[in-house]
Amino acid sequence: MIIDGKALSLSLKEDMKARMAELENKYGRRPCLSVIIVGDNPASRSYVRGKIKAAEFVGMESRLIELPQDVSEGALLSKISELNADEKVDGILVQLPLPEHIDEDKVIDAIAVAKDVDGFHPSNVAALWLGRKCTVPCTPKGIIKMIESTGVEIAGKKAVVVGRSNIVGKPVAKLLLDRNATVTIAHSRTKDLAAVCREADILVAAVGRPKMITADMVKPGAVVIDVGINRVADGTLVGDVDFGPASELAGYISPVPGGVGPMTITMLMENTIECFLSKSPVGNV
Ligand code: GUN
Repeated sequence: MIIDGKALSLSLKEDMKARMAELENKYGRRPCLSVIIVGDNPASRSYVRGKIKAAEFVGMESRLIELPQDVSEGALLSKISELNADEKVDGILVQLPLPEHIDEDKVIDAIAVAKDVDGFHPSNVAALWLGRKCTVPCTPKGIIKMIESTGVEIAGKKAVVVGRSNIVGKPVAKLLLDRNATVTIAHSRTKDLAAVCREADILVAAVGRPKMITADMVKPGAVVIDVGINRVADGTLVGDVDFGPASELAGYISPVPGGVGPMTITMLMENTIECFLSKSPVGNV
């Protein structure tokens, strides 16, 4: 069974779109997402276009701030301060990676926690690990919704997350732990990675290496989530999982493209609405 991230994402966006008029009636304006992009990395540009398009689809306000590759760190930080202070802006996203001369940590730290729609600010990360109210990072949040969409219970299952990034591996492991999975975080130095993966009832591949997870690493019937977006020599996008052979063994598997990617963007829309609502004096609807 294919986990159709594109279809799931579309249905969630339709629900959000249907809520927009109600939000505008109640609060006098729509949620607003600001996206900052520095330079012209083609992959980043394409991701950002997808984010703005999704905002338009659901009917929220969006602002795209395009800064040149050689923008100074100071100029970027003052743009963020300006957006932090703007009452009409609910979410601020700075597309990563940033050019070498800019300190990424400084930039993330500068975003107001209440507007950190990525959930990358250290206060949000700490809150996630402490089990407090927080903005959950988009990709991990989308992955959990995809697993839940299968109807397979997470509690009590063995989950293996391959990859330990701050954006995906670490937070998705925490979210799986919160749902009572027994979680292993594997990585490039894991001994006998294939054997570790074969134990997994839920396998999340977030390594960024094309087709690294081969069929012999998949437990029959497992739920397999492929986070990889790797552009290979012929220009096509492939995941971290060798989809064809792995799909013959997996119970449920997400494709690339059309899996985690669209869900990440949709969760960004959800996070922007949550930030909008949590700062509203009227409270949630
Ligand atoms: N670059 C790759 N993924 C992401 C993401 O989720 N958020 C931001 N801001 N940049 C990214």
